[in-house]
Amino acid sequence: MCKGPPQQQDNEPMPSFKRLRLFEPSVGVLGFFLAAVFVICCFFYLDYRAVVKGYRVPTQSDRFMWLKLDGSSSSSSSSSSEIVKRVDFLSFEGEGCDVFDGEWVWDETYPLYESRDCSFLDEGFRCTENGRPDLFYTKWRWQPKHCNLPRFDGKVMLEMLRNKRLVFVGDSIGRNQWESLLCMLASAVANKDSIYEVNGNPITKHKGFLIFKFKDYNCTVEYYRSPFLVVQSRPPAGSPQNIKTTLKLDRMDWNSFRWKDADLLVFNTGHWWNYEKTIRGGCYFQVGEKIETEMTIEHAYQRSLETVMQWLRNEVNTSKTKVYFRTFAPVHFRGGDWKTGGSCHLETLPELGTTLVPSETWELLEIVKDVLSPHSNTSHGIKFDILNITQMTAPRKDGHASLYYLGPKESPAPIHRQDCSHWCLPGVPDAWNELLYAMFLKQSTNHTFNSSSTL
Ligand SMILES: *[C@@H]1O[C@H](CO)[C@@H](O)[C@H](O)[C@H]1NC(C)=O
Ligand SMILES: *[C@@H]1O[C@H](CO)[C@@H](O)[C@H](O)[C@H]1NC(C)=O
Ligand SMILES: *[C@@H]1O[C@H](CO)[C@@H](O)[C@H](O)[C@H]1NC(C)=O
Ligand SMILES: *[C@@H]1O[C@H](CO)[C@@H](O)[C@H](O)[C@H]1NC(C)=O
Ligand SMILES: *[C@@H]1O[C@H](CO)[C@@H](O)[C@H](O)[C@H]1NC(C)=O
Ligand SMILES: *[C@@H]1O[C@H](CO)[C@@H](O)[C@H](O)[C@H]1NC(C)=O
Repeated sequence: MCKGPPQQQDNEPMPSFKRLRLFEPSVGVLGFFLAAVFVICCFFYLDYRAVVKGYRVPTQSDRFMWLKLDGSSSSSSSSSSEIVKRVDFLSFEGEGCDVFDGEWVWDETYPLYESRDCSFLDEGFRCTENGRPDLFYTKWRWQPKHCNLPRFDGKVMLEMLRNKRLVFVGDSIGRNQWESLLCMLASAVANKDSIYEVNGNPITKHKGFLIFKFKDYNCTVEYYRSPFLVVQSRPPAGSPQNIKTTLKLDRMDWNSFRWKDADLLVFNTGHWWNYEKTIRGGCYFQVGEKIETEMTIEHAYQRSLETVMQWLRNEVNTSKTKVYFRTFAPVHFRGGDWKTGGSCHLETLPELGTTLVPSETWELLEIVKDVLSPHSNTSHGIKFDILNITQMTAPRKDGHASLYYLGPKESPAPIHRQDCSHWCLPGVPDAWNELLYAMFLKQSTNHTFNSSSTL
């Protein structure tokens, strides 16, 4: 699966060479074929060069890039829509379309909102207001290969959420996505005062949970911070001094009783499952009463996901609660990590060639797949969907907050303290939410639609 993209291009010209051997041709015919093949190859080569040139020249002036991008993206999207006839995802024919397989296309109608119009954003995500000079990263739309997504309509989504609870649970990237959705929905509401945190808590730097109510729709859009999804608390009495806390891999987070009656539940976890954020800080793994000092992080991660599955099976009615797992969002530190001066601040364009997901990310993803796939068989009683965003997000090295996360006065941050894991808003998480929207819309309709009858 991960070996896909690079080979595809290599394979492309192969059939013509193979076919050649099937003939027993005269020298003239052979010559003609060779010449034809040569010309075709040159054509492909030049075309490829042109594409590469068009997209990958970060040193050119912004103005020039505008022109370049405009030209190449509009031509590529028009040509691909001529070749590929896409069905509507919501239509009957859209059934089974893999919406996570696709490409980023330039779209002048984006972004869906402006950060200055949205009061539900942490300072850390307000890149433009914090001085980020370019806006390209707000202009990309996700286009699945085989179908078209419905355009996001906040009113439609709010109507679908009427009298319902939508709950995000996870780490700060989950919060990133939650805030994105708050803005996307709020932009469809004229009276912003009708949207409020039910406990009056401010959004900034708040730990724990936040519940925003859209009064006119009697719905709430909630966020629970739980980077591991399982309990993190004191170790058993008499544990060695170096063990400061433990992750109880067999116990769901204390707050999970608040999640189980949600109508939509969006999980994410992954960014905290590493040495730095566990063992190094004296946080060890525990199963039952036993502290598992030898357990690898990968194994612990797997164990915790199994606990989540068990919890879904025993505590959650997945016929009522629609459950989504958002997969790991890649980070894009180059030349170091967040502590050692890794950077992403010069990235203004997505990687539009082949993008390889980093190997650490693949490992986590494989674990997720191993744990979740046996359960994804609906005959086993748990129903959930995977928001499979890892691969589609991998090219978006341009979408991170980089130096522009410290607020309008203090940004830009020192060049060696960059944020290449969180995302500017508006930006990449909006696209994840558009997919969530599309999937929710599709499940809420009863699949009797077809192209001629939808939107
Ligand atoms: C996620 O999407 C990628 C790209 O379309 C695909 O290769 C992979 O199999 C998908 N994984 C899952 C678990 O659906
Ligand atoms: C509002 O939604 C909740 C569920 O989230 C429901 O229990 C309640 O009855 C609704 N209130 C009204 C007035 O419809
Ligand atoms: C689960 O939810 C569905 C739909 O709301 C409902 O019909 C069913 O009775 C529920 N099952 C249980 C065990 O509560
Ligand atoms: C799902 O479960 C059924 C019955 O247990 C089994 O026959 C089927 O092969 C399973 N499908 C997958 C994809 O695992
Ligand atoms: C599907 O939706 C149509 C139109 O909204 C409705 O008439 C029909 O009864 C629904 N079918 C089922 C099985 O829910
Ligand atoms: C699609 O809808 C049209 C009219 O709305 C209907 O005539 C046609 O049979 C439908 N096709 C399918 C596959 O449902």
